Amino acid sequence: VTTLDIDLHDLAPGTQRVVAWAGKPILVVHRTPQQLAILQSPALFDRLRDPQSKVLQQGAYAANWHRSIDPAFLVVVGICTHLGCVPRFDPQTDGNGWLCPCHNSHFDLSGRVLKGSPAPYNLPVPPYAVVKPGTLRLG
Ligand code: FES
Repeated sequence: VTTLDIDLHDLAPGTQRVVAWAGKPILVVHRTPQQLAILQSPALFDRLRDPQSKVLQQGAYAANWHRSIDPAFLVVVGICTHLGCVPRFDPQTDGNGWLCPCHNSHFDLSGRVLKGSPAPYNLPVPPYAVVKPGTLRLG
């Protein structure tokens, strides 16, 4: 698998960047402290299918509520775990993360699926590393 470096310096808080890697759309989000606080709320946990992301994750860093190495930056594969559509970034939607346009699966800003969505699993976290402050390397 080829590697791809992502420079995070110009990714504004609260926004998403989409990059192509290994033939897949990769979604990178710079989460604000307020968004990280919401992701830890018990009220949200009750609404999630797999809040600690124990199922089908890649890398121990993904098996927790923030699903990341640096909690400020989330990296997920942008392929819905239902039937493969690309979820649309929408911080206003229920769950505050993504809405899948095909059959209305809702995801939070950790890529965790809300109960009641047809998607069975959270969005996968691809293998990556932090190679220096502000730079992630996919692959
Ligand atoms: Fe996303 Fe069906 S493909 S909800």
